[in-house]
Amino acid sequence: MTDKYLYQFMFMRFLFLLSLVLVLLTVSLSSQQPLCREDERSALLQFKDGFIIDCSASFDTFAYPKVASWTPEKEHSECCSWDGVECNEDTGHVIRLDLSSSCLYGSINSNTSLFHLLQLQRLNLAFNNFNHSQIPFGVGHLSTLTYLNLSNSMFWGQVPKSLANLSSLATLDLLKCWLHGEFPTKIFLLPSLRFLRVAYNQDLIGHLPEFYSSSSLQVFTLEGTSFYGKLPTSIGNLSSLHVLNFRNCHFSGSIPASLSNFTQLTYLDMPENTLTGHIPSLSANLTQLTFVDLSYNKLSGMLELDMFLKIKSLSVLVLSSNYLTLLTRISSNDTLPQFHTLTLGSCNLQEFPDFLRNQNKLSWLELPDNNFQGLIPKWLYNTSIETLRAIILSSNFLIGFEQSPIVLPWSKLEVLSLDVKMLQGALPIPPASTKIFQVGWNKVSEISPLICNLSSLSELDLSHNNLRGILHPCLGNFSPFLSVLELRSNNFHGNIPKTWANSSSLRVIDSTQNQLEGPLPRSLANSAMLEYLHVGNNKIIGTFPFWLGTLPQLKVLVLHSNGFYGAIRSSESNYTFPKLRIIDLSCNNFSGHLPAEYFLHWTAMKAADANQLKYMIARTTGDWWYSDFAYSIAIANKGIEIEYQKIQDVFTVIDFSSNRFEGEIPYLLESLKGLHLLNLFNNAFTGHIPSSLGNLTQLESMDLSRNKLSGIIPPQLAELNFLSSFNVSNNRLTGPIPHGEQFDTFENSSFSGNLGLYGKPLSKQCDTLPPSTSEENQGSESSLEFDWKVVVMGYGCGLVVGAVIGKFVTIRKFMRASVKRQQTPRRVNRRM
Ligand SMILES: *[C@@H]1O[C@H](CO)[C@@H](O)[C@H](O)[C@H]1NC(C)=O
Ligand SMILES: *[C@@H]1O[C@H](CO)[C@@H](O)[C@H](O)[C@H]1NC(C)=O
Ligand SMILES: *[C@@H]1O[C@H](CO)[C@@H](O)[C@H](O)[C@H]1NC(C)=O
Ligand SMILES: *[C@@H]1O[C@H](CO)[C@@H](O)[C@H](O)[C@H]1NC(C)=O
Ligand SMILES: *[C@@H]1O[C@H](CO)[C@@H](O)[C@H](O)[C@H]1NC(C)=O
Ligand SMILES: *[C@@H]1O[C@H](CO)[C@@H](O)[C@H](O)[C@H]1NC(C)=O
Ligand SMILES: *[C@@H]1O[C@H](CO)[C@@H](O)[C@H](O)[C@H]1NC(C)=O
Ligand SMILES: *[C@@H]1O[C@H](CO)[C@@H](O)[C@H](O)[C@H]1NC(C)=O
Ligand SMILES: *[C@@H]1O[C@H](CO)[C@@H](O)[C@H](O)[C@H]1NC(C)=O
Ligand SMILES: *[C@@H]1O[C@H](CO)[C@@H](O)[C@H](O)[C@H]1NC(C)=O
Ligand SMILES: *[C@@H]1O[C@H](CO)[C@@H](O)[C@H](O)[C@H]1NC(C)=O
Ligand SMILES: *[C@@H]1O[C@H](CO)[C@@H](O)[C@H](O)[C@H]1NC(C)=O
Repeated sequence: MTDKYLYQFMFMRFLFLLSLVLVLLTVSLSSQQPLCREDERSALLQFKDGFIIDCSASFDTFAYPKVASWTPEKEHSECCSWDGVECNEDTGHVIRLDLSSSCLYGSINSNTSLFHLLQLQRLNLAFNNFNHSQIPFGVGHLSTLTYLNLSNSMFWGQVPKSLANLSSLATLDLLKCWLHGEFPTKIFLLPSLRFLRVAYNQDLIGHLPEFYSSSSLQVFTLEGTSFYGKLPTSIGNLSSLHVLNFRNCHFSGSIPASLSNFTQLTYLDMPENTLTGHIPSLSANLTQLTFVDLSYNKLSGMLELDMFLKIKSLSVLVLSSNYLTLLTRISSNDTLPQFHTLTLGSCNLQEFPDFLRNQNKLSWLELPDNNFQGLIPKWLYNTSIETLRAIILSSNFLIGFEQSPIVLPWSKLEVLSLDVKMLQGALPIPPASTKIFQVGWNKVSEISPLICNLSSLSELDLSHNNLRGILHPCLGNFSPFLSVLELRSNNFHGNIPKTWANSSSLRVIDSTQNQLEGPLPRSLANSAMLEYLHVGNNKIIGTFPFWLGTLPQLKVLVLHSNGFYGAIRSSESNYTFPKLRIIDLSCNNFSGHLPAEYFLHWTAMKAADANQLKYMIARTTGDWWYSDFAYSIAIANKGIEIEYQKIQDVFTVIDFSSNRFEGEIPYLLESLKGLHLLNLFNNAFTGHIPSSLGNLTQLESMDLSRNKLSGIIPPQLAELNFLSSFNVSNNRLTGPIPHGEQFDTFENSSFSGNLGLYGKPLSKQCDTLPPSTSEENQGSESSLEFDWKVVVMGYGCGLVVGAVIGKFVTIRKFMRASVKRQQTPRRVNRRM
């Protein structure tokens, strides 16, 4: 018994002592924070003092000032426990510094005390704001660095060559550093490098070196830089690569066959370069691939799609927009990868590939610009019924559906693009989940009222079809998400629907070129977010819809060529059109004086700022796609109507031409300082041309012709530096024609029909060229960018004399920048 107790007692004592030892041990261990070295401590404090702490200058919403805990008062031993600091336990040297998202704001240079931390192994300065400093040359002194992360930190300038001295570097992250100049090639050859990301530095140039020895590089990302030149064959020596991302660079030449050395590659992403030649055979070795995107290059030749269909792990394959001809022999019976995303645009496919029959996991199927003809095969309705979210078949030659179902079967469908050119007859309706439904540019003549069931729809594009009948009354309020309603160029007649819901989504209504009648319904003013209302070329009747002036976002209002009449009522305080930039009332029966005070409210037109290259678009977004609707307008100039497919955000236009306005041109127009184009052609304006128009310094085009204006041409107009189109012909003007840079370029026709005008160019011989020829030369430099539809009009409204497709580049510096080649029809884009 005693023995037993004794043992128990001894055992308890042993346990007690053991736990005591353990406690002491942990206490001593934890208190044994390595001692901070005095010089490094003061280097850290000095570094901290070089910056302002400003979290609003950071690009990371979760940023917080780590250095706030770095205080000199506290005992120096604590520096190793400071937030973001880590020391070597034995030596006390700082070896890791993670100051990412620390709200540091200010400049950094090679004198920074940071470079006294010579034992540093990891340095992360991502997501601070170094106020456009260069990456300091001195980083190259930190010879033990294995990890360097400077991403998203508002650096600027060249990459210092000294980085190539960091021979232990395994990770280098220079994402979004505003780098430019030449990237030091030697960095690619650093022997320990495993992760290299230099992405999103658009002005950074450089080329790849020869990789003469094998390398441990696993992640290699140059996305969004200007690296150029060929991919060397020796790239095959990067045989450890998992991720190769050269998206949106400037590489050219062919894809080296040595890529097949990358047996561990999972991610091959090289779209938007200018790669040429054929795609080498890759499938034998690249069995791990899950993602391949080679779209938007100049790859050509026959491509055996089967090479990719043999890679079982492949789930994303994007080959669009090359010059490839895809062939596939594989039958649907073989076991194939189950794709998630398949984008085979302009691949010369003649028919829907058979292997699609057994694809059950597809989410995104995009096959535009192929040669599909005839009917969409009925077996396609069985493809990925549960999963498919986008089907894009634009620009094919399909005429309809085999065994047309009334409602299409894919229950998760969000995007359906069937702007295929030839679709005719009645149209099946996509399922209720659909958000984007594009069937423009077809020959569709009938649309089921079931369209009103699409209560998730945000973009409906029925433009350029043969749709007739009245607009279904539901159109104004069938979906609370509707953002774009595009009905252009059909044969709809009857009234515009009366009910427009109080919607916070609707941004675009375009019903131009139909036969719509009746008045504009006042409930349109319910659409509080409306930006673009285009009802031109219809038969709408009514007075000026001043009540639209309450719409806080309305930017574009086009009533061109309808039956509107009466005076423009003067503003009541609430109807101010605060965002209006483009107003086109041309070719109606408006009359009376221009209400000058009205212009004082049009605040958006007063700003003469920002020459930014932003277009007016309405963007509809899904989880992983977006669709842009670019606002377009047609503008008549010198009897030529030009359709601008995209317009810049700041573009500002008043077109009141061909009405019956009378009285004086209001002096107050001068307050609309942002105006680029002023067209008062063909009215009954009298009095003088106000000299205040000389203050509209942005003006590029002014047409006051065919009025009853008298007096002189104010010499102030000669100071309008951007004025490149000017017409005061057929008035009662007198006196000398002013001189000035721009004025000397105007031709006879700008001034003719004014008996009292004299001076150049009227005294010159009649040497005028037709406008088109004189303009073509100017346009040649940018002829690829321009693809305008030009309609030659007579002077009467709607009297279309002929249609020309051509490159009539006017004159206007502003519009030259504002128009890009249209992508007709528009596309939905997959986000990466
Ligand atoms: C950032 O740079 C600007 C322009 O060089 C300068 O005016 C400003 O003072 C700098 N801010 C800081 C915090 O260094
Ligand atoms: C760095 O310090 C040296 C000496 O202290 C000074 O001459 C030099 O101008 C400094 N360089 C920068 C970029 O501040
Ligand atoms: C660099 O730092 C940022 C912010 O901490 C982080 O998101 C990113 O993944 C880091 N890069 C690497 C390669 O670790
Ligand atoms: C980098 O190494 C080169 C020699 O390879 C040397 O001349 C240069 O001074 C070094 N730069 C730095 C910053 O250490
Ligand atoms: C790849 O590296 C080896 C040495 O490891 C070298 O002999 C070979 O020439 C390199 N390959 C190419 C294509 O440069
Ligand atoms: C392929 O990689 C091996 C090492 O993994 C290397 O020896 C060979 O040279 C590489 N081939 C090419 C063409 O680069
Ligand atoms: C596959 O990889 C091995 C080793 O990496 C290489 O020797 C072979 O040449 C590669 N095959 C092809 C078809 O490139
Ligand atoms: C696929 O398999 C079915 C039956 O299993 C067979 O009838 C058909 O001929 C096969 N198709 C092809 C193209 O091999
Ligand atoms: C679709 O699949 C079902 C069952 O899997 C089958 O009965 C039907 O015939 C298929 N339809 C088409 C058009 O292939
Ligand atoms: C369309 O909606 C109506 C009422 O909202 C409903 O009765 C009808 O079943 C729907 N039709 C389809 C095909 O979903
Ligand atoms: C103008 O707005 C005010 C308040 O926003 C409102 O009380 C008033 O009734 C409005 N006037 C008109 C004519 O709509
Ligand atoms: C232009 O504006 C300035 C100041 O706003 C004014 O002094 C001047 O008279 C105006 N010029 C004309 C031609 O109206």
